[in-house]
Amino acid sequence: MDMARKVMHALQYDSYGGGASGLKVMEMKHAEVPVPSAKKDEVLLKLEAASLNPYDCKIQKGVARPFLPRSFPYIPALDIAGEVVAVGPGVEDFKTGDKVVAVLGASSGGGLAEFAVAKKSLSVARPPEVSAAEAAGLPIAGLTAYEALTKCAGVQLDGSGIQKNILITAASGGVGHYAVQLAKLGNTYVTATCGARNLEFVRDLGADEVLDYKTPEGAALKSPSGKKYDAVIHCAPGSPGIPWSTFEPNLSENGKVIHISPSPSIMITSAVKKLTFSKKQLIPLLLTPKGEDLKCLVNLVKEGKLKTVIDSKHPLSKAEDAWAKVIDGHATGKIIVEP
Ligand SMILES: NC(=O)c1ccc[n+]([C@@H]2O[C@H](COP(=O)([O-])OP(=O)(O)OC[C@H]3O[C@@H](n4cnc5c(N)ncnc54)[C@H](OP(=O)(O)O)[C@@H]3O)[C@@H](O)[C@H]2O)c1
Repeated sequence: MDMARKVMHALQYDSYGGGASGLKVMEMKHAEVPVPSAKKDEVLLKLEAASLNPYDCKIQKGVARPFLPRSFPYIPALDIAGEVVAVGPGVEDFKTGDKVVAVLGASSGGGLAEFAVAKKSLSVARPPEVSAAEAAGLPIAGLTAYEALTKCAGVQLDGSGIQKNILITAASGGVGHYAVQLAKLGNTYVTATCGARNLEFVRDLGADEVLDYKTPEGAALKSPSGKKYDAVIHCAPGSPGIPWSTFEPNLSENGKVIHISPSPSIMITSAVKKLTFSKKQLIPLLLTPKGEDLKCLVNLVKEGKLKTVIDSKHPLSKAEDAWAKVIDGHATGKIIVEP
């Protein structure tokens, strides 16, 4: 940061991108912008790492237009780890010099920058055992996996409860790789899908059986050992995606599909299942990040029970490369940007 002028380097865009041909990386611009200031209940962080999620790129594409972004120019990325350099009024739990991991609000964004302002309620202390990059991978992907498994699928991470058969699609991706590890902390039998190059990787994460999604058995989501799934954590991106008719025959009597990329048609199918009292349910999940859940994930990493697998690291000066990689959709684990 140029202390005299209080400006910082950031990567931003000033219009919705994309169209049918996808996003244009060149629409992102490097700029010198004012360092934000911490207001009530906020902390100002000097960034150590940020991670990108497909959601960041979808915001640029205009999926939540006109609500997100709230204004242009917009600095994307919401998952960050950094050092506290200032605290706003009302912040008692953090002080200058503390290392934290935080999730930023999508309306304001701010992660692809040297400094960012986070809410104290969505900031969690980062212990030295957890690196900044590992911590930065956690918020959106880790919290989504956590919420899907614990709150929607009823898996208890202390291993108690009756055994559940769980299918995790796109187990090699950001959400999926956390989901496999978290599921195996519970009393579960995990079937997972991924591409051929990642079969071994997903087995090493703890999956009991792994299917290549490009084979007929993988596309049919059929458990090699004949399991019927009590819950599917459906992380595979893509539209229109896997239809209900593919899930249905693989579900146990009260099986649920937890769909983390819900489209309007998914919402309709979900409502129809509810209205017709179907035992098999389709549950759309939109993450509501909670500080206490993030704390739990950080603790699991500290205890060595969960790890962030890093697909690649990119300097902020080349964050467009990271952005292009997210759009490409073939990450193994998390894509990290470092200032
Ligand atoms: N609802 C929410 O609040 C929420 C939160 C987080 C994420 N999401 C959404 O969830 C989706 C996944 O997010 P992510 O961060 O995990 O994405 P990601 O890291 O970009 O996922 C990429 C991975 O998915 C694999 N993959 C793609 N299609 C697949 C398929 N049909 N079957 C099996 N594996 C497949 C790819 O494997 P290959 O390279 O081998 O193809 C790659 O390893 C995105 O659509 C994202 O927007 C929603």
